[in-house]
Amino acid sequence: MESKEFLIESNVPFEQSAIWNYNNEFYQSKGIEAWSEGIVPHNVTSNSLVAQTYAKLIFGFLNDLALRTESNKVVYILELGAGHGRLCFHVLQHLKKLITNSTRTTPPFCYVLTDYVEDNLTYYKNHPQFQTFFESGELDFAHFDATKKTEIHLLNSDIILKTNSVQHPIFVIANYFFDSLPNELFHIHNNEISKCSVSIKSSVDPLSVPIQELLKYIDLSYKKTKSKPPFTQDRIHNKILQEYLNINEDTFIFFPKIALHCLSNIKQLSKGGLVLLTMDKGYHRLPDLINDKEPDLVKHGSFSLLVNFHALKQFCLHLKGKVLFPTFSNFSIELGCLIFTDEVNNFIELEGAYDEYVEKFSPDDYNIIKEMCYSNVSNLKIKDLIAIYRLSKYDASVFINLLPKLKHSLNVISLKERERLAHVIDLVWLMYFNINEQVDLSYELGIILYDLAYYSNAANYFQHSISQNGMQADVIYNQALCYYQLRQDEQFYFTLNKAKAMFPDTEIFTSLEKLDMT
Ligand SMILES: C[S@@+](CC[C@H](N)C(=O)[O-])C[C@H]1O[C@@H](n2cnc3c(N)ncnc32)[C@H](O)[C@@H]1O
Repeated sequence: MESKEFLIESNVPFEQSAIWNYNNEFYQSKGIEAWSEGIVPHNVTSNSLVAQTYAKLIFGFLNDLALRTESNKVVYILELGAGHGRLCFHVLQHLKKLITNSTRTTPPFCYVLTDYVEDNLTYYKNHPQFQTFFESGELDFAHFDATKKTEIHLLNSDIILKTNSVQHPIFVIANYFFDSLPNELFHIHNNEISKCSVSIKSSVDPLSVPIQELLKYIDLSYKKTKSKPPFTQDRIHNKILQEYLNINEDTFIFFPKIALHCLSNIKQLSKGGLVLLTMDKGYHRLPDLINDKEPDLVKHGSFSLLVNFHALKQFCLHLKGKVLFPTFSNFSIELGCLIFTDEVNNFIELEGAYDEYVEKFSPDDYNIIKEMCYSNVSNLKIKDLIAIYRLSKYDASVFINLLPKLKHSLNVISLKERERLAHVIDLVWLMYFNINEQVDLSYELGIILYDLAYYSNAANYFQHSISQNGMQADVIYNQALCYYQLRQDEQFYFTLNKAKAMFPDTEIFTSLEKLDMT
């Protein structure tokens, strides 16, 4: 049978294409489920090691600001498109520790979670693990659409960040974010630039599926229209694009016009300018961009593209800012720090932290080691697992991914490994930010501790599971077993009776009644 095709749009400038609308509809309709259901990947860019890296850089920045006269004024850390909020939680955990363990006094800070999805904001507001940070004033949240020029209304403190209202440079985090904003697309060949427009065909009738699901069914084709300088109205954007006239090879290049506007808008809120920390797939060196083929959307509910870090870098340099990027090309993810302030050379501690935690060993390197462990999982021994858990800075997603191997390895374990593993488990739990994914981490941790004969600790983790997810037969059964092993008869009978009352038809509890209590 002949397959039918539906033309959705024809020769629309790439940045105005309907694909951006599909992305918006996806995020607006899914809210937190985009991540809790595992639709949009986030473990590579939002994990405990990435957060530790960010915390070290922020801590360096705070130390640099501590030397200034207005050091008692609040430093705002603004996370754009924060989505699940997990990165924020991890950063706060690491940053608080750095501050507590330091003898130096740093300025007060306020981390602001922002997104343009209202449901995500409600989710931040109500999340139990954020409450103490809201109360201390170290955390706030705000609606912010990066495609619009707006003030930023902090909804917890009711403070409005408006033009020149902030004293210190604003520390902006754009993590896996700039590729969500509409980009322009250019094609360069033989030192000529063409602007790209796009046509969309769908394999299903677009009226028959919800708009946020259309991405699955579409194919894009591109049309190039030769363009001459000036390519845009904006003087700096134009300078960056003119550089691309030096490219001879057949090359497609994204241009992040809206991201650049967004940065200019945020910069205006502060008298001190802005420092940007940004991580994504993409490159900052021009040779790495040359020969890029027609873009192919990486689809996962929404879609991802490569970020043109080279354009971000040149934008910052044209504004007399300073850029920190690694000396060499990355293998997978780029992490840049761009300083858009007047006193660009006064960030010694920040630059030192960048050198140590990005230039010498970065989240990109960590990612490679992690993948190597995953692909060699069958050869890993307990001490290898412990080492990768520690390297990950006790990241729960790494713990969960290696859990089947860990469970299989527990039958032969040394005393040293047993103690260290119990310690790892406590730190993984401290770092864990619950976004209602399917796995019940506290239950899994309880099971491991039970196997290691840490019965009291195991009972506590089963209690965490009950507090978070309600009473489950398996959990309460294992908790009762802990009390049996601990010879806490009163607790054992109390738990058993509670379980029988709740699950009268569940057979596993009869085996508990047959245990030898003498
Ligand atoms: C790819 S997700 C990244 C989430 C998170 N930053 C991470 O690293 O996993 C993109 C996020 O940006 C948000 N977003 C997309 N377009 C936006 C816009 N124009 N303004 C503000 N947020 C936006 C989405 O709601 C989503 O939370």
